[in-house]
Amino acid sequence: MLSGADELDLQSSPPTPSRTPRKLSSATAAREGFGDLVEIISPERSARDIIIGKESRFTLLGLANEVRHGDDIRRHGLRVRSKVLFCGPPGCGKSLCAEVVAAELKMPLVVARLDALIASHLGETATNLRKIFDAARTRPMVLFFDEFDALARARNDTTEHSEIRRVVNSLLMMIDRFDGRSILIAATNLEETIDRAILRRFDEVILFNKPSVAQIRRLLYMKTRNFPADFDIAQYASDFTGMSYAQVERACLNAIRSAILLKRNAIPEHCFKSALDHEISRAEVEREILD
Ligand SMILES: Nc1ncnc2c1ncn2[C@@H]1O[C@H](COP(=O)(O)OP(=O)(O)O)[C@@H](O)[C@H]1O
Ligand SMILES: [Mg+2]
Repeated sequence: MLSGADELDLQSSPPTPSRTPRKLSSATAAREGFGDLVEIISPERSARDIIIGKESRFTLLGLANEVRHGDDIRRHGLRVRSKVLFCGPPGCGKSLCAEVVAAELKMPLVVARLDALIASHLGETATNLRKIFDAARTRPMVLFFDEFDALARARNDTTEHSEIRRVVNSLLMMIDRFDGRSILIAATNLEETIDRAILRRFDEVILFNKPSVAQIRRLLYMKTRNFPADFDIAQYASDFTGMSYAQVERACLNAIRSAILLKRNAIPEHCFKSALDHEISRAEVEREILD
């Protein structure tokens, strides 16, 4: 259903029966030679755990439907759109959304391990990338590259040596050949550094922004749904303006911790207020460090 703004329900149509994914385990990945380059995660969080803008939700819903009914689209000689770039500041749901997409499509979330992928030997990074992209061709998965900027920095950046050019060139080829049985998600908070040619290869670019006051209000309720407040928590939404979802979540969890220590079964207002104050001063410290 497309009702319920901000929710990401990708189950609007039933999956094509022939597309039931084969199970991908760490052991299979190891046997096939890419096990140490990825982490295979069984997604746990679903659409009810993410708050996302209406437009982004429609975009993701569209891609998910194409991937589900990929055979129908290919039969008409068309390419399935399945490559998406997530941009935006930290703590605003890029990684969470990759997990939710995997959960909703009942696919494994395969996270590329940058530390293992980026090799010191010339040419080896491109070889590693090829192994991962080949794996995504043989079985359906949500292939997730976090901190994608580390791989896809602009080739004309004069501080970069020739290895990054080589990596970007092979990435261009691999993204081109990525054929839509899996979903490719790349995430970055340094979108301005991404090579333009790579940027153009993504079917969609989704921006994850900091939450509006209305979204903060929904997040406060969502994060306290199993341990509610004994006052109306929503009245504090505007005090979190400018913070990320992750920061708001942390204040809620800290308030819940204090309530547990006080042996309460609901959050008292004073616990929430001090968690909020603590988060505001922490944000100030972080700003000072970063400036
Ligand atoms: N849009 C959102 N809706 C609900 N919770 C969120 C959202 N964005 C972030 N969170 C919470 O903050 C945590 C960290 O966010 P994350 O997805 O890792 O951010 P990013 O990848 O953009 O840096 C998530 O695991 C989730 O608990
Ligand atoms: Mg992330």
